[in-house]
Amino acid sequence: MSWRNSLGNEDIRRFLTNIANALGVYVLVVSCMVMFASFILQMDLSEAKYFEYQSIIEIGDFKFHELTHEDVKNMLEEERNNGTKERTWCQFPPKNMHGRQIYKYNLNVPDLDLKKLNSGFQHGGRYVPEDCLPIARIAIIIPYRDREKHLKILLHNIIPKLKRQKLDFTIYVIEQTHSSPFNRGMVRNIGFSEASKIADYDCYIFNDVDTLMEDDRNMYLCNKRAVRHLLTGYDTHGYQLDYLFLVGGVIAFTKEQFLKINGYTNQLFFWGGEDDELYKRMRCSGIKLYRPVDEIGKYTIISHHHDAKEPDRHKVLRENTDNDVIDGVKNLVYKRLEIEYKELYTRILVDIDEKLVRQSFLDALEKNNR
Ligand code: BGC
Repeated sequence: MSWRNSLGNEDIRRFLTNIANALGVYVLVVSCMVMFASFILQMDLSEAKYFEYQSIIEIGDFKFHELTHEDVKNMLEEERNNGTKERTWCQFPPKNMHGRQIYKYNLNVPDLDLKKLNSGFQHGGRYVPEDCLPIARIAIIIPYRDREKHLKILLHNIIPKLKRQKLDFTIYVIEQTHSSPFNRGMVRNIGFSEASKIADYDCYIFNDVDTLMEDDRNMYLCNKRAVRHLLTGYDTHGYQLDYLFLVGGVIAFTKEQFLKINGYTNQLFFWGGEDDELYKRMRCSGIKLYRPVDEIGKYTIISHHHDAKEPDRHKVLRENTDNDVIDGVKNLVYKRLEIEYKELYTRILVDIDEKLVRQSFLDALEKNNR
């Protein structure tokens, strides 16, 4: 007996109807899923240029708003209540960005074009957008000595871009006197410490004086979940990094992140190594590192001769393995000589005595029986 004979026409019809219904539901479910996925994808893509980050150590996601709004909101609430005109939060990502522009600098840069640059600045180089409430308050720290032309070029480069980013920012130029060789790590530590005495920032960004941002979409913001190295390549190296774990140039820390690793080592005078040692600290404390997508993290370097290289930099890297707690931002020995609130930045002149710094490190080592 064939199956046709055992089933009536009615059964076959019901059977086929059931299949058709099941197929219909299936198609409906699949198309809903496709629509949902494309919606999510579209959302991701629309913000990809700001949010998509390469992760070196571990992949993670983040949302800028989540990180800083509350803190800044509290800080700015007072200003808002103080009768300043009603403002809403600045849009994120900001509108009217210019995108990537290769920066053509001129070493014979004339005096700072203050008229062009200083609108919206408050005393001491703090800029606050006038038309909206900024989502973050940041300190830009520039280690400095004898590089007047470079500083002017950098200010011309960075200020208009940061203004377009609609951030509340203050620029700190930390200048070291000539009594000892330049100490790039320690000057940054001092910048962090001095800026923190003036205000509580959401984000501390160290920017070398010769390192010029090309793309204003490279947001000068921090991420609580990872330290952000904002540089993916520089022109003098074909827009590549010399090595994957390079963290020099421009790097953004929250206060907690910087304190967790005790900042930079104070033991490296002359040129080089402090950023490699910093990376070691980050790795040891399990801090993640993010970089922007390649296109956005491009920088121009002002070419110049470096100071003499730090002869001990490899030795310090090798040996300074457990000393982070006694050598860093919490162990500073220096003199603040001057603080000057200029139109575009706060200038802080400091004296570092190499002998004293080395001696205080040795004393701490001995005290800790290392
Ligand atoms: C130095 C780093 C520097 C890097 C730049 C390394 O040899 O130790 O401080 O950032 O070179 O290429």
